[in-house]
Amino acid sequence: MFNLPWVRILFLGLSCRSCSAPNCPKMEHWTWSCGWRYDKELRVSIEERKVKSIMFIPEELTRTSRKRLLIWHISRIGFASIIWFPGPAILHPVQYKPPVRTEVKMAQLTKKSFLKHSSMKLPYIGLGTNEITTEEMETALNTALDAGYRHFDTAYRYNNEADIGRSLKKIFESGKIKREELFIVTKLPHHGNRRGDVEYFLKKSLEALQLDYVDLYLVHSPMGFKRPDDIAQEVPNFTELELDMETDLVDLWKGMEAQVDAGRAKYIGISKFNSKQIQRILDNCRIRPVNLQMEMQIYLQEKELVSFCQDNDITVTAFSPFGSPGIRPLVKTLSDAPAPLEDPVIKDIANKYNKQPSQIILRFLVECGVGIIPKSSNPVRIQQNIDVFDFELTKEDFERIRALDRGEDGRVFGKVFMGNSANHPEYPFPK
Ligand SMILES: NC(=O)c1ccc[n+]([C@@H]2O[C@H](COP(=O)([O-])OP(=O)(O)OC[C@H]3O[C@@H](n4cnc5c(N)ncnc54)[C@H](OP(=O)(O)O)[C@@H]3O)[C@@H](O)[C@H]2O)c1
Repeated sequence: MFNLPWVRILFLGLSCRSCSAPNCPKMEHWTWSCGWRYDKELRVSIEERKVKSIMFIPEELTRTSRKRLLIWHISRIGFASIIWFPGPAILHPVQYKPPVRTEVKMAQLTKKSFLKHSSMKLPYIGLGTNEITTEEMETALNTALDAGYRHFDTAYRYNNEADIGRSLKKIFESGKIKREELFIVTKLPHHGNRRGDVEYFLKKSLEALQLDYVDLYLVHSPMGFKRPDDIAQEVPNFTELELDMETDLVDLWKGMEAQVDAGRAKYIGISKFNSKQIQRILDNCRIRPVNLQMEMQIYLQEKELVSFCQDNDITVTAFSPFGSPGIRPLVKTLSDAPAPLEDPVIKDIANKYNKQPSQIILRFLVECGVGIIPKSSNPVRIQQNIDVFDFELTKEDFERIRALDRGEDGRVFGKVFMGNSANHPEYPFPK
């Protein structure tokens, strides 16, 4: 690719009329428009969004650069679609404010982009993928990559590993990024919580993801469920299965360790475990868990559990940092659950910093030293959610958010949500 300088180009092309996102994936949003763009970004738009026709007046370019740009455009979109004005602008330029150039962020992954751990490099911010649909997946992953995400969170249970696998295959083939630059997390399903089942379910996940290994494999939950005798039988909704009261976490962990030995997982960890359960694993393991994924948001700050993990060289990833507003309408028991994005203190701090409430919440979690995996399939929000490294909360504002903690009352995914899982002997939360 030519290494052209940033130049202004007057363009006639497609842009998003509903969200004004430069990378809006919804083609139905796009409309013809003209304005000033910056060539590198426009080029990305052309490549990715198939903008067919452009007019450009590269008035600041040297002759050679103009020639190169022309050749590049012809090779990409064909001669017929180019209208060339080799002079000053003849269309009235619409003032266009260039968006934040997320590519710059991609280049800025530094030591500070990763959580503190003795061996693993886990990027602070990952894309949660639960509820991202088949249609949305490829665009969501591409938008996230462009915005600087390298960490992607999925699970066997989300039933989207095949969508991710198909999208990643295309992305790797395009040369945009290499497998080894990504950090991919998936999870053992609840009905596979026994030593002998781990290999089967991880192999199924790898097959769907079209990968040879995952970076991190997590036990999705300490509560096990019984599975059909035929392990290959589809289980549409594990909550309809019977609880497996015999779940043995220490024995299960041996099955997890075997996956590291076999090279199918680089690291292993746990999700929704309490400190006693983690200690039991630590006391009996050969390979230590490197990560605990747990619900953590402004109303459920889990200070003790975070300290316990940090003292034991276990990174923490906060799931549902916004209290999962997307599944609220779908799950009756969650209708009264706390809504962090609506909190007046968060809104007040957001106004002060000229940021979105979501960014204040995510910044707070980063400053607590934990990773975060907000889910979004909206391109603007995907970008916003990683754009939290250019400001810091003052001590006073950090403490105001600290004071919002409601302890157990702030939990969204507690016993009300878990249904009969709360009767399991390994149910991890206070009843
Ligand atoms: N280990 C576990 O047991 C476990 C449990 C739950 C979740 N998880 C993981 O954690 C991820 C995130 O959790 P979650 O999906 O439950 O909830 P969440 O990240 O708290 O919230 C996601 C919802 O918030 C919306 N949203 C995202 N960014 C926003 C923004 N900047 N402003 C306003 N709204 C925004 C999303 O809508 P749009 O998509 O329309 O933007 C979506 O409806 C999951 O996807 C999954 O990977 C793990």
